[in-house]
Amino acid sequence: MTERRAADGISEGVQIRAPAKVNLILRVLDRRPDGYHNLWSLMHTVAVEDRLRLRVLPDSKAIQLTSDDPSLPTDARNLIVRAASRVMDRAGLTRGLAIDVAKRIPMGAGLGGGSSDAAATVVGLNHLLGLGWSRGDMVQLGAPLGSDVPFFFFAPSGIVRGRGEEVTAIRVTGQRWAVLIRPGFAVETKWAYARLSSMRKNVRPLSAALNEISAKRTVSWEDVIPLVENDFEDALATSHGVFREIKQALITHGAQAALLSGSGSTVVGLFRSEADAIRARELVGTAQGYWARVAPTGSSSLACSESS
Ligand code: C5P
Repeated sequence: MTERRAADGISEGVQIRAPAKVNLILRVLDRRPDGYHNLWSLMHTVAVEDRLRLRVLPDSKAIQLTSDDPSLPTDARNLIVRAASRVMDRAGLTRGLAIDVAKRIPMGAGLGGGSSDAAATVVGLNHLLGLGWSRGDMVQLGAPLGSDVPFFFFAPSGIVRGRGEEVTAIRVTGQRWAVLIRPGFAVETKWAYARLSSMRKNVRPLSAALNEISAKRTVSWEDVIPLVENDFEDALATSHGVFREIKQALITHGAQAALLSGSGSTVVGLFRSEADAIRARELVGTAQGYWARVAPTGSSSLACSESS
């Protein structure tokens, strides 16, 4: 093990930013024999980020997670703890770890916060412990933790297929401002998939346009905007009418496109101008008492740096 050490012998740490994701396109295809669904999704990070600090504890074997959010579970229910113990098992190490997460991405919001934290933990420990794992190694280790985890190793943008474990990097050129609005409740992913599955009679095949994008390595925002869609919108239309109301309001206030992210509960509006985005955040989000953010869809990827 080649973990980084300061002159006093106490392990130095790493800091890593874990960005949120939005699904710009989310098609839920056939149900698989393992109970999961095959997906086709174009995912993109946005600059709403959790921050993790990871440190080796020289005299311990425990994985200690702390957070500034008291509602966050810090035991093995948390994907950070599960990711860290998988890394230590795979690396054959029994050292303790201290991990602190500053939580900024809301939970149960369709923004992949828990998955991003898990991927950040793997990237951070790979760096801190000098493991030398490739992206493929990290995807393999992270995939069983959750269907959204592999994407984050390809951030800022990727096409995701299979259960979520097949990712190809794609670059979306240009920039938009995302307005993220989350009404004050969470949606449980498992429940949303079950509802979608029970409500539809057949699976609409993948369009020619999406098949075409599958082979590309670069697309522009102009290519993407006309194609945005999310299969969960129809499935949740009657149970969660507020999603459609927020989507419509974002479009009324100048969004080029708006859609649900993941299985909710965040609705995303895509704007050309920051000023329009800020206005829409105030009128559609903040004024209603919803959690609301404006974030550039830039180059947010898992970024690691040394900390002391
Ligand atoms: O993998 P993850 O823990 O995020 O999945 C949560 C739930 O969402 C699964 O238990 C499954 O019901 C559903 N799911 C699915 N197909 C996927 C991803 C998730 O049916 N590709």
